[in-house]
Amino acid sequence: MSDNYVNIALPKGRLGESAYAIFENAGYDCPDIHKQNRKLIFENAQNLVRYFWVKPSDVAIYVEKGAADIGIVGKDILLEYRPDVYELCDLHIGICRMAVAAKQNFTDNPDMVLRVATKFPGIAKHYYAEKSREIEIIKLNGSIELAPLLGLSDVIVDIVETGKTLAENGLVAYETVAPISARLISNKVSYKFKNTAITQISKKISNICKENIDD
Ligand code: PRP
Repeated sequence: MSDNYVNIALPKGRLGESAYAIFENAGYDCPDIHKQNRKLIFENAQNLVRYFWVKPSDVAIYVEKGAADIGIVGKDILLEYRPDVYELCDLHIGICRMAVAAKQNFTDNPDMVLRVATKFPGIAKHYYAEKSREIEIIKLNGSIELAPLLGLSDVIVDIVETGKTLAENGLVAYETVAPISARLISNKVSYKFKNTAITQISKKISNICKENIDD
């Protein structure tokens, strides 16, 4: 959409709601968004922002292709898909980590191909390539913790937030692959042509998020 609005892709769900609260706090409110309905696009002609609710894993695609100028996305998605976008700032929300986990008694046998179950094949391949460890990826779409319990994989590469899911399933996190949190990203062309508006938003968001860490 080529107009004066800044088009913002927010991930549907809890993370998106926290992110919107930060935008609201920064002066980019859009009161209609609080109305309970199924609309996916909201705009405010006063401060020239337009929000889209997008499936979390799709935010980077919307921004990379320019359907949104900026967006909020988890670092996990950025590491997995490596979209061609600018990463402008860390919101310090949605904090968790990508970790390797396995059953408590697991020991890695370097003579065997390691079977890795994950929703994040790109991250897992990259992590083990750096270690020159030969692996077989088993791509799953959810409930990853089941895989080692049922003998489908030796380890999992997955998100750990509180650690509760691992603990309740008798699994242990052995290695941290990467720390994860929500990031503000920008389309590269938009960053050039809507630079004043986007840098202003980025600065305000970044300042609010810094205050959040200091609290
Ligand atoms: C994520 C992740 C873990 C869990 C970690 O799953 O894949 O299963 O959250 O959180 P915890 O450390 O606080 O327990 P999600 O809820 O996205 O569901 P999924 O199984 O469908 O991937």
